[in-house]
Amino acid sequence: MKKQILALLLTGFISGTQLSAQQQTIHPDLEIENKIDSLLRLMTLDEKIGQMVQYSSSWDLTGPPTDADNAKRLQNIKDGKVGSMLNVTSAKLTREVQDWNMKNSRLKIPLLFGLDVIHGYKTIFPIPLGESASWDLELMKKTAEIAAKEASASGIGWTFSPMIDVSRDARWGRVMEGSGEDPYLTSLIGVAKIQGYQGTDLTSPTSIAACAKHFAGYAFAESGRDYNAVNVGIHELNNIILPPFKAANEAGVLTFMNAFNDIDGIPATGNKYLQRELLKGEWGFQGLMVSDWASIAEMINHGFAHDKNQAAEIAVNAGSDMDMEGGVYEFELQKLVKNGKVDVKLIDDAVKRILRVKFKLGLFDNPYKYSDEAAEKRNVYTKENLDLSLEAGKKSIVLLKNEKNLLPIKSTVKNIAVIGPLADDKDSPLGNWRGKADPNTAVSVLEGIQNYAPKGVKVNFAKGAELSIGERSFLRPMTLNQTDKSGFEKAVKTAKEADLVILVVGEDAFQSGEGRSQTDIGFAGLQDELIAAVKKANPNVVMVVMSGRPMDLTWSDEHIPAILETWFLGSQHGNAVAEVLFGKYNPSGKLTMSFPRNVGQMPIYYNQKPTGRGAESTEVTYSAYRDSERDALYPFGYGLSYTQFKYGKIKLDKTTLPKGGNINASIEITNTGKVKGEEVVQLYLRDLVGSLSRPLKELKGFEKIELNPGETKTITFQIDEKMITYFTANQKWEAESGEFKVFIGTNSRDLQESSFTY
Ligand code: BGC
Repeated sequence: MKKQILALLLTGFISGTQLSAQQQTIHPDLEIENKIDSLLRLMTLDEKIGQMVQYSSSWDLTGPPTDADNAKRLQNIKDGKVGSMLNVTSAKLTREVQDWNMKNSRLKIPLLFGLDVIHGYKTIFPIPLGESASWDLELMKKTAEIAAKEASASGIGWTFSPMIDVSRDARWGRVMEGSGEDPYLTSLIGVAKIQGYQGTDLTSPTSIAACAKHFAGYAFAESGRDYNAVNVGIHELNNIILPPFKAANEAGVLTFMNAFNDIDGIPATGNKYLQRELLKGEWGFQGLMVSDWASIAEMINHGFAHDKNQAAEIAVNAGSDMDMEGGVYEFELQKLVKNGKVDVKLIDDAVKRILRVKFKLGLFDNPYKYSDEAAEKRNVYTKENLDLSLEAGKKSIVLLKNEKNLLPIKSTVKNIAVIGPLADDKDSPLGNWRGKADPNTAVSVLEGIQNYAPKGVKVNFAKGAELSIGERSFLRPMTLNQTDKSGFEKAVKTAKEADLVILVVGEDAFQSGEGRSQTDIGFAGLQDELIAAVKKANPNVVMVVMSGRPMDLTWSDEHIPAILETWFLGSQHGNAVAEVLFGKYNPSGKLTMSFPRNVGQMPIYYNQKPTGRGAESTEVTYSAYRDSERDALYPFGYGLSYTQFKYGKIKLDKTTLPKGGNINASIEITNTGKVKGEEVVQLYLRDLVGSLSRPLKELKGFEKIELNPGETKTITFQIDEKMITYFTANQKWEAESGEFKVFIGTNSRDLQESSFTY
């Protein structure tokens, strides 16, 4: 056997020479498939199962592990019982562990190291929800590319990103990780991210595997409570939740991750329809499906499996290929194969998928390709990367309100008060899921303002109140400051003395993210009181909101003249905010999640269905609230600029969409203000009558343009059958004939209208 392995290794497994050149072009992966088959033939069942096991590490950067758990991991690696590890980072450490594997394991199958590189590795970019507000796909691709460049130099070959869960409920803490409420936009952003991470050549040292997660439905957790049950029908699943995943597969994403939730009673991890029939069957996905953290074992808690043995059986049959930190496959699969409950063919299929990813990434040619200390020094946290973070930061900011053009800050302002619990915060701007960012390394808003304030302008700071007390961490809940108002007096005095107040409020980074669902999406702690006191002291307030979710800004919208949504913008947060405040950058961000008027409207989203009683009436018998408006405070697609854009009327080149043809829908947009600005021109369609009740409008296209003052541009969208195709009552993707409305405009509420038939 040993000789056989040696021969195989020397020849690079089976060489591609027996394939004709033509075959290789038609099937560029045939060579890899042959190698996988050859390797598989050499593997024992234990070694196969080993590939399906992924473990986390508590190893730190200081050297080889000493604790018992990690020593056990090393033994397992030696025995060929580990296929992948997560949370092992740094070029040095990953090299050490890989080296241990290559020197000690029988088959020398490279380990793949994974990490949640969600919005940057060490250079931190805006949280995904924030960055999505840029509507700038090239930019989003670029930030993923840089995140991959940094992570790969530190040994990481696999990121658990992008999260492409369409998210409609701001109570759910993980909305920060996604691209908002629209399936079309989420699909495009997901693809841009995948292209950024994976690049055009997977064997390049800076290309890493992306992971489309969480498959599927995770964001639809009932009442926005994380991990809660999901109940959606087959049409909603196909039309809203699945399109980004389908697009990710078509873009060649190497891996998928399943989800913690059950969907209509079946946990996603044990969901055969989703994983095996749809994804791997109908869609032809060839990569690997990793479970979410311990989600295989958690099927016991779901009441879906009696014990780990049954959980393993269900998961592997359903198509979960790798067990993330679950301790289930490792101990149960062997027995299940032996007693015939799991067909070894399914094990082989899972292992082939895992090996395929490793081969595609070029790990068999160079298992150390990602562990490059020189590249780590050269590529990580560079000036260039930080500049990109600044660019992404400023493009993600959304101007929500700007009464009497309070912004940009006028040259007459000579004394600025910077107030608020988050104003000097150097940590929260990094957001949650911040890769390997060093704590407290972001530019605070206060620092940003100090950096950009023109000479002679005084900047005075008063915190007002702390937001939380004691430890803040990824895993534990925070304790809010509910009592200590000792800083209020200074805040009020500082506000009184100023020409303008910049009030930095919102959420701590650890109020959003996994396990951070909230029933209240207003300002926590003493912030409401502080806001009111400061506003009373000086009405010229610019509110700078930092948050990982749409917040309830109803009171602020009524009382505060200017509001900026700044999310968590990453390493350069304060500089990005300052560029917008001082008018060095004219804000162009547009919301990708509706901001509600109150938490009671949750879930709220623009692409709602009409209902049987949608039309307003003087009687109560229509679909609305008696104590609130029903629409969003700031709708999807909304965001102001320091200039104004005027839209003309929609012109269609025909009013019937021919089969296989298209309609050109054109519109003129003019910058009627005094400064240059960018605008996201948005196209929506409505299918008036369908075999299913259809949404009131759906985003189908957009274009981000830049206009000089007085300049007019004509934008033309090509409407085609694809845009009106959906998963119909026949449970097929079809375009149905009928009447359609076309809307083009500046956000999902303020739109020009026309119509066509098909
Ligand atoms: C999350 C995943 C993440 C994984 C690994 C889980 O708790 O749901 O999104 O990739 O942990 O950190």
